[in-house]
Parts: sequence; structure tokens; C-alpha cells
Amino acid sequence: DTPVKIALFGPGTVGSQVARLLTEQSADLASRVGAPLEVVGVYVRDIGKDRVGLDPALLTDDADALIAKADVVVELMGGIEPAKSIILKAIAAGAGVVTANKALLAAHGPELYEAADAANVDLYFEAAVAGAIPIIRPVRESLAGDHVRRILGIVNGTTNYVLDEMTARGLDYEVAVKQAQDLGYAEADPSADVDGFDAAAKAAILASLAFHQRVPLGDVYREGISAITAADVAAATDSGHVIKLLAIAERTGEGGDGGVSVRVHPALVPLSHPLASVHGAYNAVFVEAEAAGDLMFYGQGAGGTPTASAVLGDVVSVARHIARGGRGPRESHYGDLPVLPISAS
Ligand code: NDP
Ligand code: HSE
Repeated sequence: DTPVKIALFGPGTVGSQVARLLTEQSADLASRVGAPLEVVGVYVRDIGKDRVGLDPALLTDDADALIAKADVVVELMGGIEPAKSIILKAIAAGAGVVTANKALLAAHGPELYEAADAANVDLYFEAAVAGAIPIIRPVRESLAGDHVRRILGIVNGTTNYVLDEMTARGLDYEVAVKQAQDLGYAEADPSADVDGFDAAAKAAILASLAFHQRVPLGDVYREGISAITAADVAAATDSGHVIKLLAIAERTGEGGDGGVSVRVHPALVPLSHPLASVHGAYNAVFVEAEAAGDLMFYGQGAGGTPTASAVLGDVVSVARHIARGGRGPRESHYGDLPVLPISAS
């Protein structure tokens, strides 16, 4: 069988686990795809840096040459540039793309989706929201025939870990943040997590898929956890609550036709609520849909190996389509609805 050629950009916390699993599970993956997966190169900015577990012969700092020989580009560098240019070049070259880059998708998703549609290639991003939890496909595909009213949950593992450590162990905020970094949960700049930017990006992505309309990142109300003190945590505990950073996206107005509200902020959650039992870097997302009723998704929301699971699922999907000579079903990311006003109510 002709191999499906995989190019990996960014062998960091997530990328190194994707590379490991691609090697360790190569026989299983080949049988699931119907063709072997061949890693043709790993893009790095510093070829001289020690990369444990990676074949040095695969390392390259020539992005264009690597894109030219890839069927699937897996972008795990994070940030806007050069990730955006690399993805657009990959799409233009006819490669399928898998990314976990929520910051990029929330800021430039429409441009990337349109480029992928125009080039008739796949752009998959299950790992961009809530790590290992399958939530993009359920919202984008499984619920496409339903009317989603509200999405609510914990979508950032770092802040949940920090708040949990402050609550359960009385850890200092700074110590807990450092631990989240060491465990591979935090973004390269952890202010993306603690100031709510990461959760806001995920909320914008989920809301755009659930409500079939563009949700500009700038319209998402955002408040992080950096102002929360040990005294706040203790007061919450004393009153039978726990502090959680929640992301909430909901239709507003009579019958849900008044617009949408998308917001991220700390909230007092009663100990009896299921979200109060979401510990460590776990995430949980509740979806309320008209016909389906209430749905709940729960699992590891951050970390190299759990996130690599979601990335590999996308790699298998995209590689299957390529092995059969095409792309996946064309998804309409945005319906014909106008952009509605968003309030931070
Ligand atoms: P890391 O910082 O651990 O890894 C990023 C990798 O990309 C590193 O290998 C880094 O190289 C490389 N890189 C970064 N910038 C450049 C550049 N300009 N040129 C070349 N290489 C570059 O990040 P993560 O693995 O944690 O995250 C990767 C992506 O996955 C991000 O989009 C993140 O938001 C997303 N994500 C992360 C999760 C997690 O739990 N960590 C969970 C879900 C999504 P170098 O080694 O030289 O620094
Ligand atoms: N930094 C992110 C988090 C990684 O803590 O949730 C997963 O998207």
C-alpha cells in the first residue's frame, strides 16, 4: 500500500507524544487507515536541540520542503505565526491539516476553513477544545440536526488544576501555576490560561460550531483567575461552594433568537453540582439541545498524551480519506445566519 506521508510541526509536549504514538502504534494505525502512516519529517526551529525519542534524521528546519512532501501536516507549534502561514501553505499544496491550535482557530478560523474548502482538503481540530474529550465532532456533526441552546463547562485544564490545588491542598497560586506548567498543561505563556484567553478561544470555537455563525474572539467576555486569592477560595469552601472558571455560550432572548452570549469567568459552583467534582486538569462540557436534551462530556482536558489521542484520531480520519483518494464530508461551519449581537450578560 502507498503510505500516507505525515509531517509534524512542533515536537513539544503534545507533538512529542504524537510522534511516540505514531511509532509505537504504527501497525494498528496502518490497519485502521488501510495504508501505512509514514512520518516524513519533523519541523523544528533548532535542529541542534536534544529531542529525546525523535529520530534525528527526521528533523528539519525547512518548512517549505517538508510541506512539499506531506499528505498530512500536523501543526502543534501553537501561536499565530508561523503556524498560520504553514497551515495555509499546506492547504495550498493539497495536504490535509490537523491542528490543536485554538488560539489560531479562534482568531483566523474562517480564513482557514474557507481555504481548506476551496482546496478541497481536510482541516481537523478535535484537540483544540478540551484536550482528549471528543467535543468538536459531537457539536459539529452529531448535533448538526439539532438546535443547541447552551454550552457550559470547564474547558481549561490549567486553571481547573490551579483552583483545585488551592482548594484541596491550600497551595499558593504561583506554586500551583508552576506545577501546571511542569505537568505540560499550561500554554507556552501561562497568562493565556490564567487570564482566560485560552478558555475564551475555546468558547468562541464551540459557539461558532454550535450556533452556526461567526463568533469573533473579541466579542467573548473574558475574566481569568489571576485575581483570586486564598481568602476567596476559603470563603467559597465555607459557604459550600467551589470556584471554577466557566465558559458559557448560550442563545438569548425569547425562543433563543435574540443573539448569543459567550463568556468566560470564575463562578461559585455549589458542591452538589457535577462541575464541582471536576478535579485536576480534567474538563467537563454540558450541552443543552432541543431534541437531544442534556449531554455531558468529561475527560482529561490537557496534557501531552491525552491531547495526542485526539490529534491521532484526526490523523487517522484525514489519512483514511487520503488513502481513499479524497477528503471527508464537507462541513458547513457557518450557516446563512447573520452575525448576531453578543452580550456579556
Ligand atoms: P509546547 O510549547 O510544548 O510545544 C511547541 C513546540 O512547537 C515545540 O517543539 C517548539 O519548539 C515548537 N515551536 C514553537 N514555536 C515555533 C516556531 N516559531 N518555529 C518552530 N517551532 C516552534 O506546546 P504544546 O505541545 O503544549 O502545545 C502545542 C499546541 O497544542 C498548542 O497550539 C496548544 O495550544 C495545543 N494544545 C496543548 C495542550 C496541552 O495540554 N499542552 C492541550 C490541547 C491543545 P522548541 O522545542 O524549539 O521550543
Ligand atoms: N493550556 C490548555 C489547558 C491546554 O490548560 O486547558 C489544553 O487546551
